[in-house]
Amino acid sequence: QSRSLEEIFDQRIARDEKIEPRDWMPEKYRKTHIRQISQHAHSEIVGMLPEGNWISRAPSMRRKVALLAKVQDEAGHGLYLYSACETLGISRDELYEQLHTGKAKYSSIFNYPTITWADIGAIGWLVDGAAIINQVPLCSTSYGPYARAMVRVCKEESFHQRQGYEIMMTLAKGTPEQKELAQDALNRWWWPSLMMLGPTDAESVHTEQSMKWKLKRKTNDELRQQFIDQTVPQADLIGLAIPDPELKWNEETGHYDFGEIDWDEFWQVVKGHGPCNKERLSARVNAWEEGEWVRDAAMAYAEKQDTKKLK
Ligand code: ACO
Repeated sequence: QSRSLEEIFDQRIARDEKIEPRDWMPEKYRKTHIRQISQHAHSEIVGMLPEGNWISRAPSMRRKVALLAKVQDEAGHGLYLYSACETLGISRDELYEQLHTGKAKYSSIFNYPTITWADIGAIGWLVDGAAIINQVPLCSTSYGPYARAMVRVCKEESFHQRQGYEIMMTLAKGTPEQKELAQDALNRWWWPSLMMLGPTDAESVHTEQSMKWKLKRKTNDELRQQFIDQTVPQADLIGLAIPDPELKWNEETGHYDFGEIDWDEFWQVVKGHGPCNKERLSARVNAWEEGEWVRDAAMAYAEKQDTKKLK
């Protein structure tokens, strides 16, 4: 019985049909989607912190408005993704609990500090640039609610990427000190941005199965190569140097060759030992605890409205 259900499911995947919340799905499909979608949601939420750090210090009103809008978008992405995840049978409270107890992962990239304004440019350009490359293929992922969420998320990410690149462009053609700030931010964010796309295919435990289920449409290495190929000419255009002496265009492959990634650093950060892991997690836990009275008040108000309606 259950094998035939699985066969029908596999055929639907092969036909590129979307799987919807009430459809039968293998338990592992459900679990791995909860894993990936919730990690994605947590990344959006934690991802607000490094940039939120600069909202009050943005150098002009225009920059402040754009950054504020971007950070708000990220909150929206997180909430969307939590909702998509809930359709798989896990509650929002459980998801928060997993984040706050350190059980859940979120993207390594958000454990690095934003020490200058140029970091805001580098995040938009590189981190959101890598996020777009990762998320555009997810618009055709097999799970309906995730795929639909990705369509809007990608549109907003593309605005984020442009606002970041424009900051870098402005700094790069500014005073020598401004250009230096931009170069320094690129130096610090380049390698973590490559790591963000996940371990090499050889090391990636989930890729093979996730590709079969069309959860992932491209492998980590494919995405990384695409990101590098797209970003190097953008750095050239604004006169910044990618901090990789081994980076070289390869005529034969039609791609850039690049140097060795420090995977020890990546795993250290993933395991909680990055420069800001503790700070990020405690910021989220504090926000949750300090927001308790707001949630309670909102619930009390909603209940009052309900009893009024009943009368
Ligand atoms: N940071 C933290 N953990 C990571 C990262 C990363 N950058 N990349 C991989 N990992 C973890 C995986 O979660 C997995 O751990 P788990 O088994 O405990 O879940 C382990 O490393 C092995 O990695 P993979 O087998 O390659 O995992 P997966 O197939 O899930 O691929 C990827 C990782 C590419 C990040 C995938 O989950 C994905 O595409 N997610 C959706 C996009 C996303 O989450 N983006 C977040 C940042 S973008 C943004 O918020 C702006």
